[in-house]
Amino acid sequence: MGQTPSPPSEAIDLLNRHIGEPTATHLLSDRRGSRAWKIQGPQGAVALKANNPDSDHARDKAAEMAQENDHLLRLTDADALSPDYRVSAGTWEGGQWLAVRWIDGAPLWRALALARSPEGDRAAVRPWLAGIARTWAQHLALMHAAGWAHADVQPTNTLVTHGGQAAVIDYALACGPDSGPRLPYRGALTHTTAPEIAAALLDTPADIHIQAQPAADIWSLGASLFWCWTGHRPVAYDDTIDRLKKLAVIAKGTTTALRDVQPWPFPEFEGAVTACLAPDPADRPTAKELTAAW
Ligand SMILES: Nc1ncnc2c1ncn2[C@@H]1O[C@H](COP(=O)(O)OP(=O)(O)O)[C@@H](O)[C@H]1O
Ligand SMILES: [Mg+2]
Repeated sequence: MGQTPSPPSEAIDLLNRHIGEPTATHLLSDRRGSRAWKIQGPQGAVALKANNPDSDHARDKAAEMAQENDHLLRLTDADALSPDYRVSAGTWEGGQWLAVRWIDGAPLWRALALARSPEGDRAAVRPWLAGIARTWAQHLALMHAAGWAHADVQPTNTLVTHGGQAAVIDYALACGPDSGPRLPYRGALTHTTAPEIAAALLDTPADIHIQAQPAADIWSLGASLFWCWTGHRPVAYDDTIDRLKKLAVIAKGTTTALRDVQPWPFPEFEGAVTACLAPDPADRPTAKELTAAW
């Protein structure tokens, strides 16, 4: 058994001035070369991310974290992100770290557990579910108005607060206007990849950047809601096939009919989610339109 990794001391020193001397530190995730901790202090809490220096992808992950910091600064400048979200960032002996404001919420899959069950079929759940979708679309609308796509819209990057509001995290892969050199965007989670992104990934070599467009976020939003409300992913493929084969199925643009798998009827919600999954990006609603649809 290895030791639980500690957060970079360089980050803790700098975070002191934001949240005070940490009273509790909790490792949240340690996967694919990056780690995240919750750091609680007397004056607040942050989510702290740092690359894992021992990972095979250490250099890429450090570059990705620096890129996320750059994205947060630019999104804040463009009024697409609350100015209090980004807390601090820097280097440490193993690479890069980044701290953002702690959001008290549950990832979408967990948050929708009741809505996914037959017991979710009750009057109070409908406006609650619609409210999550609406507030999620509001966040994306702000980004899209500034010319950005989040490009990693998926269930684990959306936290639902106790008041039923969606919060969007993880801006590492975002695609913005007038970007300088960056890590090439090669898609994010396979299951929430829009068909036009899937097609572009299959058509281009691995070092070519694909500029994700806002309409791709809309497909991913629809896919995430479809998945977490029904328990089924919108594109049915054998889970054991490799990523490129899955992408080839997604690129065809065919999705399971939501009506066939939904846990209970909710026509307005069903209609808007289905519209998000239109194979042609031009046929999808915009995030702004969705804020009025739900
Ligand atoms: N601002 C935040 N508030 C609460 N939890 C967060 C926050 N940012 C990240 N997390 C948690 O840390 C995990 C990893 O962070 P994320 O930014 O998604 O990085 P990555 O997916 O690259 O590991 C998230 O899935 C979430 O559980
Ligand atoms: Mg993430």
